[in-house]
Amino acid sequence: MQIISTVAELRVRLHNETNIAFVPTMGNLHEGHLDLVRIAREHGKCTKGTQSANQQAGCGVVCVVVSIFVNPLQFGPSEDFSTYPRTLEQDCTLLEQCGVDVVFVPSVNEMYPAQQTVFVEPPLIANDLCGASRPGHFRGVATVVLKLLNIVQPQVALFGKKDYQQLHIIRQMVAQLNLPVEIVGGETVRAPDGLALSSRNQYLSATERTEAAFLYQILTGMRQDLLRGETDFSKLEHGAAQALAARGWKVEYVAVRSQASLARPEEHEGNLVILAAVRLGQTRLIDNLEVCLKG
Ligand code: PAF
Repeated sequence: MQIISTVAELRVRLHNETNIAFVPTMGNLHEGHLDLVRIAREHGKCTKGTQSANQQAGCGVVCVVVSIFVNPLQFGPSEDFSTYPRTLEQDCTLLEQCGVDVVFVPSVNEMYPAQQTVFVEPPLIANDLCGASRPGHFRGVATVVLKLLNIVQPQVALFGKKDYQQLHIIRQMVAQLNLPVEIVGGETVRAPDGLALSSRNQYLSATERTEAAFLYQILTGMRQDLLRGETDFSKLEHGAAQALAARGWKVEYVAVRSQASLARPEEHEGNLVILAAVRLGQTRLIDNLEVCLKG
């Protein structure tokens, strides 16, 4: 596994690769990230039999690239950019065990050698849900992801569904800007009690960590209600927010949305997603569950 920190070196290393699978991360890796790495390797696997048949079919051996970069552009002034956990050595050990080929670890100066004055303007949905309390966040995400895609030039890039709104905005960016890359979403990986894995979970105290599983219980309860035929989404959202608030959580939003647009669902829309952002003590947690209603 090679660890590369400059754009120039990375371009040389990847010059002859024809089948790159890319997992962008901010490091402090957990099973959710490692799952994406495994999907990345599987996704690019050759299935044509012989090496020459694979090469002819354009599926040479996959090169898995992971980036680790805590992107200042996507953090607000009062957010946790400076304290975000940075665990490069441990991350590299895990990535090596997973068979990653290249880890790209640029400095802030390497990614932003001059003041960044050109940005990706994300779609309006970026101002809703998480964007409502994190102004500029998705602009920062979209801009760095576009830069990373341009630097790595992968055939496929993988993002976790836990950041559902992020994945949606990246898909929109790739489609609307005609970027030649396939975007694949990986399922959320959960702890045995249901808590979605996240680098920020380590901010939770022991008591908070036990309590944190309640968010998944709330989401699964809402999913059951929807599957049983509940159509009053506002009632569900308010009920869930109240139940969380009653136990001391600070609720940013609990929302039932369309999977396709993340807008409020049209009547009889079948593919829904329940999304939530909440604070438990000082820790902000997000989670979501997809719900597919039969037509
Ligand atoms: O999901 C993340 O870890 C980050 O938002 C990403 C996609 C690596 C961009 O900085």
